[in-house]
Amino acid sequence: MLLDIDALPLVDMAFMNEVHQEEAHCINALFEALLAYENDYTEKNALQVDALLEDWYTHTLSHFEGEEVKMRESGFPPYAMHKAEHDRVVAEIKSLLEAWRETREPKPLKIYLIEVLPRWLVTHIETMDTVTARFLKRGISPCGIS
Ligand SMILES: [Fe+2]
Ligand SMILES: [Fe+2]
Repeated sequence: MLLDIDALPLVDMAFMNEVHQEEAHCINALFEALLAYENDYTEKNALQVDALLEDWYTHTLSHFEGEEVKMRESGFPPYAMHKAEHDRVVAEIKSLLEAWRETREPKPLKIYLIEVLPRWLVTHIETMDTVTARFLKRGISPCGIS
């Protein structure tokens, strides 16, 4: 298991905590499939990576979109900053996905999953998501009147 789901930081909005746990499940499942493929380079194992990578990518898009809709609805002032960070990570995942489809080389994906993603996810939850959830919970208007 790559990510300890019970150790993920919690924020003030339940819908965000749920989606973060789902995200961690997707990442763990993909990581296991990747290890299985590395141990045994079969078509079946490659197809499993294909499917779980696609699931994770789709889940990430809906995870980010869900937060962005709430930020827009509530007039969250640093929306653009949070959205830009989501866009940056989506672009990274998309290029890894495309490279995998082209080469079926597991290493770049494995390195990203071990060395980049868990640290990014935890830091993102502890910073931008925490501030966003606090704002959503308190219902503070863009003018500062709650
Ligand atoms: Fe999030
Ligand atoms: Fe976020």
